[in-house]
Amino acid sequence: MKLKDKNLYYVGGVVRDEILGIKSFDKDFCYEGNAIIFSQNLNKLRENPDFGTVRVLFNNEEIDIASTRTEKYPKPGHLPVVDKIGCSLKEDLQRRDFSINAMAKNTVTGEITDFFDGLEDIENKKIRVLHDNSFIDDPSRILRGLKFAVRFGFELETHTKKLQDEYLNNINYDMSFHRIKKELKETFNLNNEKAFEIFISQNIYKLLGENQNTPQIKTSIQKLVEAHKPKNIWLVYAGLFNLEKLELNTEEQEIINSYNSIKNEFPRNDFEIYKLFSNLPLESILLYAISVDKNIATRFLDFLSEIKLETSGEDLIKLGFKQGKIFKHIFEKTLEYKINNPYITKSDEIEFIKENFL
Ligand code: CTP
Repeated sequence: MKLKDKNLYYVGGVVRDEILGIKSFDKDFCYEGNAIIFSQNLNKLRENPDFGTVRVLFNNEEIDIASTRTEKYPKPGHLPVVDKIGCSLKEDLQRRDFSINAMAKNTVTGEITDFFDGLEDIENKKIRVLHDNSFIDDPSRILRGLKFAVRFGFELETHTKKLQDEYLNNINYDMSFHRIKKELKETFNLNNEKAFEIFISQNIYKLLGENQNTPQIKTSIQKLVEAHKPKNIWLVYAGLFNLEKLELNTEEQEIINSYNSIKNEFPRNDFEIYKLFSNLPLESILLYAISVDKNIATRFLDFLSEIKLETSGEDLIKLGFKQGKIFKHIFEKTLEYKINNPYITKSDEIEFIKENFL
């Protein structure tokens, strides 16, 4: 796919990733001027005049083009509003988070515009903000810095680290937590323990709210997470903190509630482990693994969770039982027997039932 105009640029992550030689998640285009006017003769799918953005269909691909724009923060830490649409490319790049994300590549000439030494920072593996107010304007950039550092093996440049420390020592919690949540998810979804280590050692966790304790981490769970692939990887790490400011959805809240209900429990045998964990969200069990006891959680995840009774209600009826409360009792006791004798067959189960309940 090629979309060319001398005022049209690739911008942000796509330029950074191309220089790094890695695949980009999405391709952002930026038009120096008004993208909505530019796209008049293109197959326009949707436009948002307030932001100066447009989505077009080009060679069967949906692409987003933004007008160059400046932004203002109505209050520090709140979502920015558009200030001027159609500003110069330099002004547009200036409002961005880090030098490595503030480069553009011309779609006609292929020339890279690099006003803020992003190329040099990529070379030196540094993450550098463009101005001293960057984290005050948008504290979620602290998490973005962590995300990029871990993703690319970079580190914060000294002055940027100093600005981060200053902000974390004086956080203004009157901020939009929407971006904080988004960036927290992206950072921890990388399932990289390094991110978690830095999150704690550099005090980045303080961004989550006033009442935070640093959690006791018992063990590494990166591999366990890889093996079991929970849907909400991020919560396996972030769930150890107080997330009340993040507006968790029902599923996320359920994970935290389930974890809170088990974190002080210490099952003593296989059946107790089974009873404690069965029907709980995978993420809650992984939270137990990281913060309470990995062996107990692993015993369930890698072995006990597979154990199921083969005997059905129909089998009980055939044996002459009348449907009712007794079914639940029989199933529970037979399951307990099976968990303590995991390799028994269906006829062993039936034998056990006959011996104990007929
Ligand atoms: N940006 C910013 N401040 C933010 C979020 C984004 O300045 N809080 C700018 C950066 O220039 C970034 C661009 O907007 O490159 C696009 O943002 P996003 O898609 O979130 O990031 P990418 O750099 O494309 O990173 P990813 O590879 O994670 O998509």
